[in-house]
Amino acid sequence: MTIHIGAAAGEIAETVLMPGDPYRAKWAAETFLTDAKLVNEVRGMLGFTGTWQGHRVTIQGSGMGMPSLSIYANELIRDYGAKTLIRVGSCGAMQEGMAIRDVVLAMSASSIATPSSGIFREFNFAPPADFGLLTAAHRAARAKGIATHVGTIYSSDVFYDERPDLNEQMTRHGVLAVEMEAAELYNLAARHKVRALAVLTVSDHLITHEALPSDQREKSFGDMIEIALAAAFDGGEG
Ligand code: HPA
Repeated sequence: MTIHIGAAAGEIAETVLMPGDPYRAKWAAETFLTDAKLVNEVRGMLGFTGTWQGHRVTIQGSGMGMPSLSIYANELIRDYGAKTLIRVGSCGAMQEGMAIRDVVLAMSASSIATPSSGIFREFNFAPPADFGLLTAAHRAARAKGIATHVGTIYSSDVFYDERPDLNEQMTRHGVLAVEMEAAELYNLAARHKVRALAVLTVSDHLITHEALPSDQREKSFGDMIEIALAAAFDGGEG
């Protein structure tokens, strides 16, 4: 048990999927895991542990934004021994040629600041995904026939963004999409020598202003969970 996670020692798997929304964690656990058991409900940030194709998996909500994700990822890694952490969530596309429901695999995550900025100070660390997870997720997404983009993303501290000039520069420099958690997940993975990846679905487009219809949200979330699970337990070299 930690300050924010009520699970007993041994109740968290080495592989953890982290959707932002705790109810998404519940849906994914009930839909994809066998014998899913509720292991955390502190602050309503639900977490479940079960098995997928014989592998133990925990699906734990991270909340929205890097400070929230940082609390859960820190405790999962430092107190429960999590070794593979995969964020599954939505993003806003920043490039033309990307469509709603496309998958984005974040090779790296840029930011203005993260909860780790206090450590890095003047150093702009470029937090990377785990290469093996990235290539395995790419294979899994392509095998499902889903249009998939691999590259850098922007982890923002704000959803209601008021810097169109900055977004323009990011688009110009090839940043694929914006979300709010991956950079700190990757920072923590680098610091603690564990594997991390963000598997994202385009839910809205910052240039075309299209948005994912609500009746398609569940299906695309399910696709991401399957990609994340396949990547986590892929034995290939990449
Ligand atoms: N901004 C930040 N996070 C997001 C967005 C966005 O436009 N879309 C989905 N997650």
